[in-house]
Amino acid sequence: MNMRCLLVVMSMIASGVCGSVFAAVAKPVIVPAPQKMKVNDGSFSVKAKEIDLSLYAFEKDTSLPKEGYALSVTAKGISVRSADEAGRFYAEQTLRQLASEKGGTLTFPCVEITDSPSFVWRGALLDEGRHFFGKETVKNMIDLMAYHKLNVLHWHLTEDQGWRIDIPGMPELVKYGSWRKESPKHGSKLQSFGNFRYKSELNGQKYGPFYYTEAELREVVAYAASKHIRVVPEVDIPGHMRSAIAAYPNLTCFPENIKERSAHSDWGISTDVLCIGNDETVVFLEKVFDFICDVYPSEVNHIGVDECPRINWEKCPKCRARMEKEGFTKAGQLQGWITRKMAAHLAKRGRRIMGWDEILADDAPKSAIGQSWRTQKGNGAGTTLVGGAEAARLGYDMVMNPHTETYYDYRQGLEDDPFQYPGGNIPLSRAYAFDPCAGVVPEARKHVLGSQAQMWSEYIWNEYDLAWKMWPRACAMSEVLWTGSEKKDFADFLVRMEKHRRRLIKMGVNCAPLR
Ligand code: ACM
Ligand code: ZN
Repeated sequence: MNMRCLLVVMSMIASGVCGSVFAAVAKPVIVPAPQKMKVNDGSFSVKAKEIDLSLYAFEKDTSLPKEGYALSVTAKGISVRSADEAGRFYAEQTLRQLASEKGGTLTFPCVEITDSPSFVWRGALLDEGRHFFGKETVKNMIDLMAYHKLNVLHWHLTEDQGWRIDIPGMPELVKYGSWRKESPKHGSKLQSFGNFRYKSELNGQKYGPFYYTEAELREVVAYAASKHIRVVPEVDIPGHMRSAIAAYPNLTCFPENIKERSAHSDWGISTDVLCIGNDETVVFLEKVFDFICDVYPSEVNHIGVDECPRINWEKCPKCRARMEKEGFTKAGQLQGWITRKMAAHLAKRGRRIMGWDEILADDAPKSAIGQSWRTQKGNGAGTTLVGGAEAARLGYDMVMNPHTETYYDYRQGLEDDPFQYPGGNIPLSRAYAFDPCAGVVPEARKHVLGSQAQMWSEYIWNEYDLAWKMWPRACAMSEVLWTGSEKKDFADFLVRMEKHRRRLIKMGVNCAPLR
């Protein structure tokens, strides 16, 4: 027996290790791929079922980057260094993927890893306005996000089709807004007739009421925080507000149009939006955002600002009076007015606003975070045309998620796919090839915070459907954002994903085939 083997056996005896260093150890499969990994001979085994603190020696090391870690597995044991708690948590996620379990024993290959994320914003959006999934599904999603080192849950809880937040003192919101008379029939396609006119075949079945209580919201936020995931709440204004308008019809320009005191039954966009000429709209929104600030500790509040039809604003006497008072020549300028008003209100609570790229069209404050969804390089629509890369050049912090690359409710190129999609096509290779910094000049790259996977839910009907569309594409997103463009390697990813997909399926995840 040579000296090295003798040391290994001695350490195994000393630490109660069982198993054999001579056992074949599979090549490590880690998703997202770490920045640097050296695989050494041998392994370390220990009687345990799960990774916990008692399995490794930890040392705080402030020389390491935020969220980063250094992990060493030798035949003698495991040690982790990190500058912060998040780094230690991510080392544990890596250990979970390194471990193989047999008969109550965990075995780890010997490795030296130094790792840190390429982007600070590594997210996923969940839309529960169109379909409501409930807190257990959200917690499962959080678990899987954490396992892939994603750290932002953009929780989209208000839509034309449903209001999902029960706000104390405003019971009408869920009484009228958390249900709809019917929904598009499963399998029916939304047809557009132009100018915000859409139609699907409806199913005649009441949907809801579905909503979260304050206690449930706090529970999910705390659960996410325990997994180093920040929940960024979105209350989408001033459009996409038909469910709130069902509760308070006087907040829209023409209340007489609101015949049904329930959320919008069809997909698509309602032209009944908040009246910006009405001072009560401002009072209402301040109350809503005050509640959001109380419940969500995130320093970023998403206020939507996408796809707001201005048809009513152009005709409404109150909106026209506001335009005149402010010296506006176009109804669209009312959107910038309400954005600035809410930015100022939220700033008093120490919050920064975030919005879809439309928010940048009308003099949004420089502190606003933009979310590029229509284009990354080119121009978005709006009063002033600003694309994601151009917005970063102008000094806006940006989350880049062009719909053509990051809307995972779009098709994924599978043949015989049993699930329904609105269209598009983002196969795994396309999801993987996405670069949040594409088209961004080098000096503006510091403004690219990252990206996220979008799970819009018009055509996502339940948790199995959700998982199918999210995974494996969100694995690709995790490499885009953690591993980064310089180290990404699609061929290597595909090889790892063969095993990783089996791992996810074993965990009960309805992960789609690789494509
Ligand atoms: C969006 O897809 N309307 C942000
Ligand atoms: Zn109005």
